[in-house]
Amino acid sequence: MTAPNIDTIVSLAKRRGFVFPSSEIYGGLGSAWDYGPLGVELANNIKQAWWRWLVYERDDIEGVDSSIILNRLVWKYSGHEATFHDPLVDCRECKSRMRADKLEGYFPEGGGQFDANARLREGLVKCSECGSTNLTEERYFNMMFRTRLGALADEDDPTALAYLRPETAQGIFINFLNVQTAMRRKLPFGIAQVGKSFRNEVTPGNFILRTREFEQMEMEYFVKPDAEHFKLVDEWVTLYLEWFKGLGIDTANLKLHEVPKGELAHYSKRTVDIMYRYFPERAEEERQWEELMGIAYRTDFDLRSHSNKPTDEDGKRVNPDSTEDLSYFDESTKQRFYPHVIEPAAGVNRTVLAVLMDAYSEKTNDKGEMRVILKLSPQLAPIKAAILPLAKNKPEIVGMARAIKRSLQPVLRAVYDDTGGIGKLYARQDEIGTPFCVTVDHQSLEDEAVTVRDRDTWEQERVKVSDLAEHLQKRLKPYPIAAPEVS
Ligand code: GAP
Repeated sequence: MTAPNIDTIVSLAKRRGFVFPSSEIYGGLGSAWDYGPLGVELANNIKQAWWRWLVYERDDIEGVDSSIILNRLVWKYSGHEATFHDPLVDCRECKSRMRADKLEGYFPEGGGQFDANARLREGLVKCSECGSTNLTEERYFNMMFRTRLGALADEDDPTALAYLRPETAQGIFINFLNVQTAMRRKLPFGIAQVGKSFRNEVTPGNFILRTREFEQMEMEYFVKPDAEHFKLVDEWVTLYLEWFKGLGIDTANLKLHEVPKGELAHYSKRTVDIMYRYFPERAEEERQWEELMGIAYRTDFDLRSHSNKPTDEDGKRVNPDSTEDLSYFDESTKQRFYPHVIEPAAGVNRTVLAVLMDAYSEKTNDKGEMRVILKLSPQLAPIKAAILPLAKNKPEIVGMARAIKRSLQPVLRAVYDDTGGIGKLYARQDEIGTPFCVTVDHQSLEDEAVTVRDRDTWEQERVKVSDLAEHLQKRLKPYPIAAPEVS
């Protein structure tokens, strides 16, 4: 079972401390969300699992953490200043403002070149709010957030203009040579980065699915110009499908989308999106899916555009501002070239949402009451074990439970909780996905043993306190996530 819709997760997330609407005491801030005590743990566990999988378990990937605000020229030569924009339209009937390329009828069936404004004038495109075809022509809106550097800069001083990064990828490209030489890397190798990105989205929404501030886990995998790039895209797709499966996501809720040529980003020759079923409640199967991540073949576009050597047909340098040539010298062939790139780009927030939706389940207890169980993969669960005293007014039991919590903490995230009756405490831990509850009772004082209750089966087992850490660690061992080499 998965969550019936995103709203179920919104309410669970707020009630149990995963995600709160941001700035709520001031009426909120459109589509901004704050991660609470459990949400920050879940997101961290996802990021750590990703980092371990790519940077630690493989031998061909390095990590970086670049600045969020980069030299403005980075965005000029990456093409974002000129092309990172969305087409906007207004509905003359209901006055909604929408992204035109998300509307029914925007793209002609069968793809190919088309004139969007002609289609809008002909009434082929439908308003997503009221269904009217009485829409304005489209106009473009650059999605990068602008800021100014320096306290003395004027509002419109172009020399002080800077942007918050709209993707983490560029921080990797501009450091390609630094990483390659410092780490003495030979192709193929990758550079991974996780961090915040910002886009002034026209239509944010659907909880943490589309927000203006979000987090990405991106990796640029540098290969030779004659590598089998399209095949490599397929290989990374397979690896990521396995990875998501390892996070506990049911493959029935994942599907692939080959992005049509006319919809590719300016740098991409091929992109395959991995889609997640975020909208299972929608009757039309086609409308149930949204992008979880994309795997793109970016060619040598970025390294070439950031380099000072390439020239145009008149022999003029294409990038007179760069001080470096980001090419690579291949010792084996004695050739110099710009490496090509395969880029798997995933969203942390969208992974959090997919993981929460997929883990959601309901179970009826023997009193006929419905209980929510969040069947999170143990490696992702914010809390691994909750230590619960059966009698909170008995100092010996409380003391023993607190001591057990402290002794477990160095090896796994444990909490102590005595804020309710045992049934309530179990239900609360089930709802936040804690794999194990450890109950300390009167008997424990005699036999130095505790009851370990399993979240998914509700089965209980008596375990000696001296064996507890090892017992839990064994049962928590993360599902291994395969990381086979890419050719
Ligand atoms: N460097 C390539 C790149 O940024 P993208 O498809 O625009 O590609 C990659 O973004 C991933 O980042 C998306 O698949 C999605 O998971 C996440 N993402 C993008 N925009 C987002 C937004 N506004 N809110 C939340 N996540 C977003």
